Amino acid sequence: MSPLAGAIGVAHTRWATHGLPVERNAHPIVTSKVAMVHNGITENHRELRLELERHGEQFEVGTDTEAAAILLTSLLSGGMAPLVAVDRMLMRLQGTLALAMLFAGEEDFLVCTRRGSPLAIGHSDHEMLAGSDALALAPMTRSITYLEDGDCAPLTRRGVEIYSEGMRPITRPMKITAVDGSAVHKGGYSHFMRKEIFEKPEVICKTLLSFPKGPKRAINVPSMPLALLSVERVVLVACGTSYHAGLVARYWMDDLAGVPADVEVASEFRYRNPRLAPGTLVIGISQSGETADTLAALRHAKACGVATVSVVYQCESSIAREVGAVLHTIAGLEIGVASTKVFTTQLVALAAFTIALARARGAITRKHEQDLVAAFTAIPELAAEAPTSDADAARIARTLSAASHVLYLGRATAFPIALEGALKLKEISYVHAQGYPAGELKHGPIALVDAQMPVVVLAPTGELFGKIASNMAEVMTRGGRVILISDQHGIAEAGEKMRHDHITRLPLVHCTDTLRDRGSVTGLQHRRRRDTDIDKPRNLAKSVTVE
Ligand code: M6R
Repeated sequence: MSPLAGAIGVAHTRWATHGLPVERNAHPIVTSKVAMVHNGITENHRELRLELERHGEQFEVGTDTEAAAILLTSLLSGGMAPLVAVDRMLMRLQGTLALAMLFAGEEDFLVCTRRGSPLAIGHSDHEMLAGSDALALAPMTRSITYLEDGDCAPLTRRGVEIYSEGMRPITRPMKITAVDGSAVHKGGYSHFMRKEIFEKPEVICKTLLSFPKGPKRAINVPSMPLALLSVERVVLVACGTSYHAGLVARYWMDDLAGVPADVEVASEFRYRNPRLAPGTLVIGISQSGETADTLAALRHAKACGVATVSVVYQCESSIAREVGAVLHTIAGLEIGVASTKVFTTQLVALAAFTIALARARGAITRKHEQDLVAAFTAIPELAAEAPTSDADAARIARTLSAASHVLYLGRATAFPIALEGALKLKEISYVHAQGYPAGELKHGPIALVDAQMPVVVLAPTGELFGKIASNMAEVMTRGGRVILISDQHGIAEAGEKMRHDHITRLPLVHCTDTLRDRGSVTGLQHRRRRDTDIDKPRNLAKSVTVE
């Protein structure tokens, strides 16, 4: 039905957990008394369902949200006022939730509540709004109140009241968000991802400039919750692409700053009861700042009494609000679900942090620092050269689109970049791809190699080039096709050593010996060859607020 008439409404893009992603299960879940949208998971939905069915309640769709909606309906049917019923329902629900609820017969009354999942209230002249974050509300308003965990907020078109747990009235500040809804356009590009790849030089520059260099060309980071000199170990926690940024940074921290660094998949971190001694700094990396797994990992670190920092784009996000300091990535809005430019700015922020850490600990000389800053400053210009290899990318895309499986190989910092390349291919092409450290090839994956298996090799020139060239040779002698991503020097060297008809080359911009991060400055681009929605790959969400 379009357009819809009315003065009040709730809607939700559902991330399917319990129940298929079909219209029947779409939100709002509507009963005789409520219409409910839910971001999160009702973990005890089975138990509630059995209990409610014993009391004669009827279920129609069987999703976890339906259990909450039927519970609320039954409390309302028992004569409770809406807010009292919501409070009672919350006492029974286990799991994470951000809920927005309408009540039958109430045309100017909407109740929002959150626990775990994010929720923001928007203030406008003649209406009130609620959404997951400032970005969702940005086209309508920039005046935002963030709800805290346990808050319950009844809205009318004139305003909002907020109650903390136990229905105690509380005031939460209203902020003018920095998020600008007008920036959401493709700017002439065929899709957002392409636009965002081409924005890399600009966002690298902006992020770099945010770490003031001053006359001494020193990189400075914001004041940390733990003095950099006292940092004895760094633990980086993140998911997906952000996890890969952490894997790159680990090489830098060990190597340049002499600080042992570990990287953990955030969803596993707290469940293995990690030992976190004083002197440990836990850094959460997240584009959205709302990823439930990363937030939970940081909360766990805080509960263990160690200092926390985040690398985020959204300074107003849940993760940024909960940590001791923020390393801000100035990437601008990233709309494409598959992250590109944000990944690059995460690397910039982590590199800046590593330089500051190395300086604080006396691990680098002033001259070394100046050289690093100089090389660092040259990165945006080098990155600007990368998209000129578009024609090569199109050729390679033809090979990849015909494949069912693709291997990505790299060594040192190029290894996490290989993982990231494989993730990008999976996300936007639905082609199975796997990243490996190139040295691991002979320990198993080489069994997969045949003429049908493209092998993408990331091989910047440098001390490991000879070793990775041997890995390429191993692939080619088994009939495999290598797609070599290297700089001009590496491509020339590979051309001399190996049979040409087995190699497709994609030139990589060579970045001088900065933090040994040559592979990461350009990222991996793949042209669209399959009929997929580049910006909105199936089954994925930009912000994953469920565990
Ligand atoms: O917002 P976050 O950086 O915390 O998100 C983490 C992952 O969900 C995210 O990087 C995901 O892997 C992307 N789809 C990658 O393109």
